[in-house]
Amino acid sequence: MGHDLSQDAEIWDDAYKLDRAHVFHSWHAQRNLDPTEVVTGHGVWLKYGDGREMLDFTSQQVNVNIGYQHPKVIEGIKKQAELLCTVGPDYANLARGRAASLVARRAPEGFDKVFFTNAGADANENAMRAARLFTGRDKILSSYRCYHGNTGAAISATGDWRRKPNDYSRGHVHFFTPYLYRSEFSATTQEEECERALAHLEHVIQFEGPDTIAAVLLESVPGTAGIIIPPKDYFKGVREITKKYSILMITDEVMAGFGRTGFWFALDDYDYTPDIISFAKGCNSGYVPAGGVIMSDPVAHRFDDIVFPGGLTYSGHPLAMGAIVATQEAMEEEHIVDNAYTIGKDVLGPQLTALYDKHPKIGEVRGKGVFWAVEMVADRTTKEPLDDATMKQIVAEGDKRGLILGVHNNRIHVTPPCVISADEATQGVEILDQMLTAAGC
Ligand SMILES: Cc1ncc(COP(=O)(O)O)c(C=O)c1O
Repeated sequence: MGHDLSQDAEIWDDAYKLDRAHVFHSWHAQRNLDPTEVVTGHGVWLKYGDGREMLDFTSQQVNVNIGYQHPKVIEGIKKQAELLCTVGPDYANLARGRAASLVARRAPEGFDKVFFTNAGADANENAMRAARLFTGRDKILSSYRCYHGNTGAAISATGDWRRKPNDYSRGHVHFFTPYLYRSEFSATTQEEECERALAHLEHVIQFEGPDTIAAVLLESVPGTAGIIIPPKDYFKGVREITKKYSILMITDEVMAGFGRTGFWFALDDYDYTPDIISFAKGCNSGYVPAGGVIMSDPVAHRFDDIVFPGGLTYSGHPLAMGAIVATQEAMEEEHIVDNAYTIGKDVLGPQLTALYDKHPKIGEVRGKGVFWAVEMVADRTTKEPLDDATMKQIVAEGDKRGLILGVHNNRIHVTPPCVISADEATQGVEILDQMLTAAGC
């Protein structure tokens, strides 16, 4: 028996009550949740159910790069909805082809094919699948400090033939990537950190057995793990090591891609070419869920005559594709990636660094573009992370002052939409300054 709908009729206009009655939220114990109602948004602003206009320094899950309710993206989705709302992945469709071409042209030379997924996790699933089938090996090496998504068991649970070529639930090995502020390698400079992290990776590869390793999977900027900008030569070094052992390199651009770092892809600021790139979030700012895998030509051609055992009902969903086309065009026309670069260089970088000079509980400020972390510590010498209660207080101070801020452990993540203006960014940093003062930092 389903539940009695007449109970819902009484709360039909109340977003909060309906949410508490029926919505099961991600990543939370449900009992004490107290979600805020959001009604609409515009640019970097969100309107709450109580009427407050909030400045968003999170871009939600760091995905709304183009800002809220961009008219060109809304129009793109509307046009596609009027033409064709859905069609299966086996057909050729103009929006899908255009989206693939617009995404692929942001990748390095020699990346021409895009496999569309619904989000970032399944993009990485398919990137790993392609690497395993390409190499015939099953281990994937990735960083302890990373996030690549929240899927994994579905294909192992599958009973038919599709499980067998994908039966890789084993084979994940982790290693340490550069993080000078809390160096695993007792390094004191970025050069030392880079050199020692590369030596560590090569040792891990040798001890695991190079001929068991399909790929090294790395975020181009570890995001959720702390917006840790890798040293200039790190990826070049990883590329050399992976080539030496015929291991593929997968770059996860899900969070860092499409303008977040002030580059189309964060990897553009480094001197290397991976074999596979995964993407999602910023490709259409999540207006309609989408992600994908961009394959270098050798990887793509591997599947010219053999079946790629991967697929999704909504791979290349027309509405998501319409949103990608409109987003990519608007980002280009409105120089949104350049804006993110300039905001990072001229506004967020200098202003957040000035906060470091003023607030002793800031341990480090790091980032680029509209992708910044302010790492909070109890003590700058010991680097002991600031306690959870104070971090919660900082967020609450923001809420009172109209700023939405992302907090992860002892870090404040400053990740506004790429369309933010210099005035809006300054306004947000001024509020952050007040919040830190109010929280005794
Ligand atoms: C770097 C990275 N990869 C993958 C994912 C997973 O993406 P999704 O939540 O769209 O599945 C995320 C999500 O935050 C991410 O930051």
